[in-house]
Amino acid sequence: MNSPTQPTAPRPRLGFIGAGRLAQTLARAAQQAGWTVSHVASRHAGRAQALADALPGCSAVGMDAVVTYCDLVLLTVSDDAIASVCAALPWRTGQAAVHCSGATEVSALQSAAAAGAAIGGFHPLTVFADPGATLASLPGCTVAIEAQGTLNLTLEQFAQDLRLRPLSLPPGARARYHAAAHYAGAFLNALLGEAARLWASFGASEEQTLAALLPLARSTLNAAQTGGLAESLPGVVSRGDVGTLRKHLDAIDGLPEQDIAALYRVLALRTLRTARGAGRLDATQAAAIEALLLADQQLVQTRSQSIE
Ligand SMILES: NC(=O)c1ccc[n+]([C@@H]2O[C@H](COP(=O)([O-])OP(=O)(O)OC[C@H]3O[C@@H](n4cnc5c(N)ncnc54)[C@H](OP(=O)(O)O)[C@@H]3O)[C@@H](O)[C@H]2O)c1
Repeated sequence: MNSPTQPTAPRPRLGFIGAGRLAQTLARAAQQAGWTVSHVASRHAGRAQALADALPGCSAVGMDAVVTYCDLVLLTVSDDAIASVCAALPWRTGQAAVHCSGATEVSALQSAAAAGAAIGGFHPLTVFADPGATLASLPGCTVAIEAQGTLNLTLEQFAQDLRLRPLSLPPGARARYHAAAHYAGAFLNALLGEAARLWASFGASEEQTLAALLPLARSTLNAAQTGGLAESLPGVVSRGDVGTLRKHLDAIDGLPEQDIAALYRVLALRTLRTARGAGRLDATQAAAIEALLLADQQLVQTRSQSIE
């Protein structure tokens, strides 16, 4: 944060093309942080006007006008539209075109670079739904930045002003970065769904499952934040408890849905790798667990082949 005696560098004039969920929050956050959002556009004029109405001093205009009047233009359109929308706009030297997609390469903005504009990526790592709620939860989130030189400094400043945590991405890493983020979002949800399937087998409702398991999930996340992944790893594999692991496998192998046991084994093997890497298990314990998981997997495969 700047002290009162530090001069504040002038912030570029910001424009948005695309007035969807992300733009509705990010444009408000930018204004609250003291940036000027002067022009917005969208495919449907009404969407742009609704956003402009929420931003004092902002005008809804055509897409070309955003590029004409703004120094830093955020292309907040759907991923598939980024390259084609960008290619139709009158870019010039001295301005910047930036998209907010996690998985789309910055090279999708190549047409702007060819016209002399700087190009980059600015991907806030959160879910944009209700603008009011997301605005409140934005500070502290990470934003992945991919840009060079002056634009990189500008986007880092933007992140700092929005109280986001900048993470620098090298070229070519976006799809891997975005895929990995799913493990903390969609796949975490899927894992809880897997637990709900298992608990449903003895009559527990989804509501009961979530009431019981969300506090456990939160304590797991808190422990990981405090101690790191390996140090905080809970569960039977990290304790080398082969007997209990055998009970788990016997129980789930007996279920009609074979995919439950298959996913359990894959995750248990990943857990084993972490526990082993952290020195939580000796070689004999690790070998016994691995043999149990892999031998039973062959058994399951044999069983399902014999059923077919
Ligand atoms: N939502 C999230 O949680 C989230 C999180 C991080 C990053 N992002 C990224 O943010 C960007 C915008 O996502 P969003 O969730 O805000 O999407 P959205 O709510 O679906 O809004 C997309 C916007 O793009 C415009 N648009 C779509 N196709 C277009 C086209 N062919 N030409 C011109 N404009 C077009 C739409 O215009 P009209 O409404 O006027 O039709 C709409 O304003 C994407 O790159 C996305 O990956 C989203």
